[in-house]
Amino acid sequence: MNINRLYAGYGKFKVLFDLEMEVPANEITVVVGPNGAGKTTLLNSIMGVATVFSGDVVYQGKRITGTPPHKAARMGISYVPQMGNVFAGLSVSENLQMAGYWMGKNELNNRVDQVLDMFPVLRQFIGRKAGTLSGGERRMLAIAMGLMRTPKLMLLDELSTDLAPIIAKRVMNEVARLRNELGITVLLVEQMAKRALEIGDTAYLLVSGQVRFRGKAGDLLRDPELSRVYLGIKES
Ligand SMILES: Nc1ncnc2c1ncn2[C@@H]1O[C@H](COP(=O)(O)OP(=O)(O)OP(=O)(O)O)[C@@H](O)[C@H]1O
Ligand SMILES: [Mg+2]
Repeated sequence: MNINRLYAGYGKFKVLFDLEMEVPANEITVVVGPNGAGKTTLLNSIMGVATVFSGDVVYQGKRITGTPPHKAARMGISYVPQMGNVFAGLSVSENLQMAGYWMGKNELNNRVDQVLDMFPVLRQFIGRKAGTLSGGERRMLAIAMGLMRTPKLMLLDELSTDLAPIIAKRVMNEVARLRNELGITVLLVEQMAKRALEIGDTAYLLVSGQVRFRGKAGDLLRDPELSRVYLGIKES
């Protein structure tokens, strides 16, 4: 996916300015940056939720700028949003079924089974309401729901926020597995940047709606100035 000279926001409110971004296939591209930098707006622009003033989003050679969410989804893009990504009142199994609502009964059951094979940990909670899961378990469920449609590209927003470090690490390992074992292209937005940069290939630092850094994820992690000022990472 390529993003060319994107200006986007909400209504008349401008958030992103002249964004240039490349999201190479089968890689993890990480977008980091402080609160309000426009990270979620970037994902919303790709999914046709935010207002695009000018510029383009190109996916598989097609201009998909402004394509409504359900159409983007049909093209193989799965969006796991920052908030409200599971149905708290439904069981784990019902949540997975909701994420594949258009499938026939047999296809749906098969796909739920396949996805549970990818996330065996969910099997032990299968009958429990999603609202009773821990934060980490809930993120796993949200990723699993995103996998129901066998995506080629996943947009993941702040999966590790508010999780204990060890759980956040586990969730990031699952994200690495999406790339390593399933060949999925990932655009990963994270505010707590360290773990994300450790598994990522390319990184972008977004500040006030503009790209402040673009390069190898490891290089951003090791940049003493940027990592300290924007990512809260202390020099080791
Ligand atoms: N639906 C909306 N309508 C109007 N303005 C919005 C909307 N959503 C976000 N904004 C504004 O757009 C700016 C960028 O917000 P965005 O959610 O993209 O930031 P973010 O980088 O994802 O931050 P965070 O790390 O807190 O999630 C903020 O000033 C925010 O108030
Ligand atoms: Mg956000």
